[in-house]
Amino acid sequence: MQKNILVTGGTGFIGSHTCVELLNNGYNVVIIDNLINSKKIVVDKIKQITNKNIIFYEIDLFDKYELLQVFNKYKFDYVIHFAGLKAVAESVNKPLLYYKNNIMITLNLLELMETFKCYNLIFSSSATVYGDQKPPFKEDMNIGQGITNPYGQTKYMIEQILKDLCSCNKFNITCLRYFNPVGAHPSGLIGEDPNGIPNNLMPIILKVAIKNNLVSDLDNRYENINIFGNDYDTKDGTCLRDYIHVVDLAKGHVKALDNMKGYKIYNLGTGIGISVLEMINKFTEINKVDLPYKIIGRRDGDLAEVYCDPSLVKDELGWEAKLSLEDMCRDCWYFIIG
Ligand code: WQD
Repeated sequence: MQKNILVTGGTGFIGSHTCVELLNNGYNVVIIDNLINSKKIVVDKIKQITNKNIIFYEIDLFDKYELLQVFNKYKFDYVIHFAGLKAVAESVNKPLLYYKNNIMITLNLLELMETFKCYNLIFSSSATVYGDQKPPFKEDMNIGQGITNPYGQTKYMIEQILKDLCSCNKFNITCLRYFNPVGAHPSGLIGEDPNGIPNNLMPIILKVAIKNNLVSDLDNRYENINIFGNDYDTKDGTCLRDYIHVVDLAKGHVKALDNMKGYKIYNLGTGIGISVLEMINKFTEINKVDLPYKIIGRRDGDLAEVYCDPSLVKDELGWEAKLSLEDMCRDCWYFIIG
C-alpha cells in the first residue's frame, strides 16, 4: 500500500531533491509551497526526473483554511516540514517576520496533523541550534546557547515545541539537523536557485563563476568572491563548514521515514570541516573556471568551525553521506551549464 506524504516547502532546494527520492522510493507526494524562495517550474522538473506524478498546491501555511482543504482531501501518513524563512542575515534585520512566520506556520501544520490523526513528522532543523559550542557537534549536546540570529532561534524553539508535543501524545517526530547543503541533482534539472541576492557561499561562487566565465555583463557585484575573513584559528584562516551533497541529504530523509518512533534527532552531515578556500580551490580545479576572490573583514555571527559527528545516524538509520566535495562542485556547475 503506497504511503501518502505531505512535503511543505517541496519546491525549495532541499525539498525538491527530497521529493525526487520519495517518488523514487514509491511514496505518493503532495507539495505545498508559497513559492517565496522557489519556482513552480521545479514541479515539472521533479516529474521529468522521476517520470512520476506529483501534486502541487501553491499555498501559504499561514492560510489555515487552504491547508485544511488539503488535509481534507488526502489521508497523509507522514509530513516532512521544510517550509520556512531561512536567510540568516535577513532574520537579524527582520526578527518579528521570522518568529511569526516560522513558528506560526509550524503551529498551523501541527494542529491540522493532530486533527487529522497524522502523527509522523520529519522537521527540517539546523546546525545553528548548537550555537557557538566547539565541534564536532553531537545530538546529545545542550542546544540553544550562543545562537547568533533569529533564524537559528526559530529552529531551536520549534525543536522544543516538537519535543513537548512528542512527550504528551501519539506523535513520532524526527528532527534532522542540516549542516551546509550544496550540490544539485546529477540530471542538472534541479539545484539551488534562490530568489533574489544569495547569501550562502555556493550560490555566490556560482554567480561569480557565471560572471567571469559565461556572462560578463552579469551584475558587477559578482566580479569576485568576498571571503569573510582569513584570520580565524583554522587550517588556512578561513571558516570551516560541513558541506553535504543535497542528494545525500535527501536520501537521509527517506531513511528517517523508515525508523520513526517517538522523538529523535539526527545530524545530517559528513563530519568533515572544509574551509572557504578549500571549497573555492576545489570548484576551480573540478570545473576549470576562473574564480577571483578577495579577503575582506569577518561577517557578524560567523563561527570559525561548524561540523558534526554523524555517527548516530549511521548507527541507527544506516545512513551516511557518500558523495564527495568533487561531486558537489561538479553537480552545482552542471546545474548552471548543463
Ligand atoms: C559558509 C562560509 C562564510 C559567503 C548556513 C546557512 C544557514 C544554516 C547554517 C541551515 C562561512 C563564508 C559565505 C560569502 C564567505 N543552514 N562566506 N563569503 O554561514 O554556514 O550558514 O548554514 O539551516 O541557513 O546560511 O553558510 O554559505 O553563508 O557561509 O566567505 O560571500 O562561507 O563566512 O564561513 P553558513 P554560508
